[in-house]
Amino acid sequence: MRGIGFYFFLAAVLCVTLGMVWGIHMAISGDHLMAGAHAHLNLVGWVTMGLFGVYYTLTPAAAASSLAKIHLAVALAGVVVMVPGIAIALKHGGEAAAAAGSMLTAASMLIFLYTVFKNGLGNPV
Ligand code: HEM
Repeated sequence: MRGIGFYFFLAAVLCVTLGMVWGIHMAISGDHLMAGAHAHLNLVGWVTMGLFGVYYTLTPAAAASSLAKIHLAVALAGVVVMVPGIAIALKHGGEAAAAAGSMLTAASMLIFLYTVFKNGLGNPV
């Protein structure tokens, strides 16, 4: 089985692939209404999840903990709920999904804060 860092990084690459297709679609159509949702897919999905993936790859002590799997689940749920939530808010109004997704995303960063304090950077198992 591959390490948790791989799954964070795979999710990040999927996000940026989708985000680029979305960006090209916005550029071609000239309709930039969804710029905020596209931006969050790329910055939370690609940049943030990608950094989590690099961290766990560099820090086997953190990757070995069961909290890392919970972190992956919460971070993924955050992107999957927040990005469509922002799109819904931009198109139709109503911010419930965007708010729920942003809470999950913030929770994932709190888990990461604890993880970094506990395991440091680059520590072996
Ligand atoms: C093929 C790649 C991409 C294309 C074609 C693309 C296209 C676009 C377009 C058309 C907009 C709307 C601009 C506006 O209305 O002012 C936009 C906004 C934005 N994009 Fe991308 N994008 C791409 C990749 C990325 C990536 C990789 C990131 C971040 C890592 C990113 C971050 C942003 C941000 C933050 C905004 C919001 C700008 C604002 O609202 O002021 N984009 N993009």
